[in-house]
Amino acid sequence: MSRHFLRDDDLTPVEQAAVLDRAAALKADHFALRPLQGPRVVALIFDKPTLRTQLSFTVGVAELGGQPMTVDGRLAQIGSRESIADVTRVLDRQVAAIVWRTYEQANIEQMAAHSAVPVINALTDDFHPCQILADLLTIREHKGTLAGLTMTYVGDGANNMAHSYLLGGATAGMHVRIGAPGTHQPRADIAERAAEIAAHTGGSVQITDDPVAAVVAADVVITDTWVSMGQEAEAGDRKGAESPFAKYAVDGALVSHADDHAIVMHCLPAYRGFEISADVIDGPQSVVWDEAENRLHAQKAVLSFLLES
Ligand code: CP
Repeated sequence: MSRHFLRDDDLTPVEQAAVLDRAAALKADHFALRPLQGPRVVALIFDKPTLRTQLSFTVGVAELGGQPMTVDGRLAQIGSRESIADVTRVLDRQVAAIVWRTYEQANIEQMAAHSAVPVINALTDDFHPCQILADLLTIREHKGTLAGLTMTYVGDGANNMAHSYLLGGATAGMHVRIGAPGTHQPRADIAERAAEIAAHTGGSVQITDDPVAAVVAADVVITDTWVSMGQEAEAGDRKGAESPFAKYAVDGALVSHADDHAIVMHCLPAYRGFEISADVIDGPQSVVWDEAENRLHAQKAVLSFLLES
């Protein structure tokens, strides 16, 4: 049985800490681990747009000694041209691991159920666990620790990033706050699961529709686009004059309520003037370029961990 990384709570708190330690070691020495030496091939399948994820997995697989193979989801048409199960049976006889960015979480779970090699979630509608590992590594670098810190996410609380911050942050023992309109709050089952994890790690979960209450004294302030991939038809409502997210924009006024030494994060791509102001994302508290780089190190760490497991 292979281990998979489909959602943030697929790693226990101990495993998550070990993966972050491994990521830090790989950042210090990019070629310290070569589990894909051969080279063995890793399939990178993208049904949605990408820059950072394709880049960091391509570089990461190469640095681990392997050969990345990008599959354009429009060509493979997984689930319509042929079943997820049949695609997986073809892939897992030839590749060392499968990385998939797709829509429904149920689809990647189906792939994992049929796969003899590790399957990694490179973003679904529900979760973006690789991004959260990179974010936790970034926070640890800047703050020296994770447990006990307050990490606030403001914006669309119903999207994949909010869900992954809940699960990944709780696993790390953080106090996770979500500030989002009542119409766009996290899925109840995910919030409950995060609270359950936090009860064991010393963290906590708080969900509010008050952006200032969410941000006050926070150590980390995070936001994400108001229009996630697949929601393009709703862009007018989400970004227009009546946007439900307008008062959750991360600007200087909102960040002023956070701790004086708070850092600001955004997984990118960012839309200045909407979810985040230019002066904040380009200002001294922003760590977004470290965050983008850390995708490489975090993903190498989790991929090599899964290959060993
Ligand atoms: N943050 C992130 O996943 O970036 P891409 O969509 O460009 O891969």
